[in-house]
Amino acid sequence: MITIALPKGRIAKETLDIFEKIFDKKFAFEDRKLILKEDDFTFLLVRNQDVPTYVLHQAADIGVVGLDVLSEKEFDLVDLLDLKIGRCKVCIGMKNEDEFNFDKPSIKVATKMENIARKYFSSKAIAAKIIKLYGSIELAPLVDMCDVIVDIVETGETMKQNGLKVVETIMDSSAHLIANKNSFISKKVEILNLYEKISKAISDL
Ligand code: PRP
Repeated sequence: MITIALPKGRIAKETLDIFEKIFDKKFAFEDRKLILKEDDFTFLLVRNQDVPTYVLHQAADIGVVGLDVLSEKEFDLVDLLDLKIGRCKVCIGMKNEDEFNFDKPSIKVATKMENIARKYFSSKAIAAKIIKLYGSIELAPLVDMCDVIVDIVETGETMKQNGLKVVETIMDSSAHLIANKNSFISKKVEILNLYEKISKAISDL
């Protein structure tokens, strides 16, 4: 039995589609249920940012999560495979009329990705004051709570419709298959078997 943590939403659906393709049967959560048992798999439906936590604590053997979340958490996990779904970028954004000024002694940054933001600005030797938010990050510069934001850009529509522009891309992200280090040893055969099947299924897409 392998337990798999999936992030609620589109990535969970797309991952289950891959399983349907591999095993030629239906994999779908019932209504509001958070656990799905099918064949030798138990799927858990969790919040995107919580996937690495479930895998770290071995509540799940493996999981699917964005590289952005993985980089932010910096947990000691096995990064198995880029599933090439859920592509997005982590970008710096600011108001259309503003200019990115590297010479400012200190810059105020609103973000839900504190570690990625802190690392990026320290690598540029810019003193950044990080303001942690949990969502609707694009609002912060509009009410002058910050100079810039560090946030996910997928289509770019949210920034565009709120009069913001991308000034720099910090990283590209997509959903990765991750594993708990102990599970990767104790269930190596099962996990590698599944890894092979998923690799083949996504290369055929
Ligand atoms: C993300 C991100 C942006 C939006 C970008 O938020 O924080 O707000 O998506 O998408 P776009 O470029 O296609 O417009 P998400 O929907 O994950 O919600 P959250 O802010 O609650 O995390």
